[in-house]
Amino acid sequence: MNSLFHSLRYLLSRVLARRHWWCFSKISASVTIPPHVEDLCQFEFAHNIRLGNRVRFLRGAVVLADPQGRIILEDDALVCRFAVIQSFGGTVRIGARTAVGDFCNLYGFEGGLDIGCDVLFASGCRVVPSSHGFDDPSLPVAAQPSSSKGIRIGDGAWIATNAVLLDGVKIGRGAVVGAGAVVTRDVPDYAIVAGVPAKILRFRSGHNLNEGCR
Ligand SMILES: CC(C)(COP(=O)(O)OP(=O)(O)OC[C@H]1O[C@@H](n2cnc3c(N)ncnc32)[C@H](O)[C@@H]1OP(=O)(O)O)[C@@H](O)C(=O)NCCC(=O)NCCS
Repeated sequence: MNSLFHSLRYLLSRVLARRHWWCFSKISASVTIPPHVEDLCQFEFAHNIRLGNRVRFLRGAVVLADPQGRIILEDDALVCRFAVIQSFGGTVRIGARTAVGDFCNLYGFEGGLDIGCDVLFASGCRVVPSSHGFDDPSLPVAAQPSSSKGIRIGDGAWIATNAVLLDGVKIGRGAVVGAGAVVTRDVPDYAIVAGVPAKILRFRSGHNLNEGCR
């Protein structure tokens, strides 16, 4: 009985994976190797989600595009358990071989989120390129205008666990953002930053990042 249940569950997950593949393949003509999609994953506006080859979505990954918003995951990108990627009307691009850790939230908004290749997000990172105005104290913050400048993350950066990147920041190539950091300013290439607000600890030396992977 137990093995029958597991077989049925496996079959269902394969059917669901095929269904997602069918949705994605409508626009991703260059994709020859279908995505790996585990159970409990959720996709919205899949025709606005563009995939490269061998993209993997682990259990519970949520990828929400919308009528105006686009989400692009390049070859070998990995979205781990219960991570949420949402376009909110903008574009989220996730470069080749980039890994999005468990429970991360990566959002687009008008300014967009552009992530290079070989970027590593540990679990629980928050990257939200948007902020609310709060100048008028007579109005609730939610009723005041919001803005979105966008966030850029260079190739080979490591965003450690529970880091928060605020709107407008640019993270340089090969930079390291320490656990729990709140990044309020641009981070230069190969800098190691940590703390709240994040400050430069030092620079990585002897780096050997593959140039030109984008
Ligand atoms: C940022 C980090 C990479 C720095 O490592 P490091 O270069 O070996 O740094 P050190 O341990 O030598 O610490 C240097 C200083 O920065 C401080 N520091 C290190 N990491 C910090 C952090 N995350 N937040 C605040 N301060 C930090 C240290 O306390 C130390 O301060 P001091 O000189 O006043 O004593 C590391 O501490 C870190 O945050 N790693 C992330 C781990 C993680 O998220 N793993 C998930 C697996 S993907």
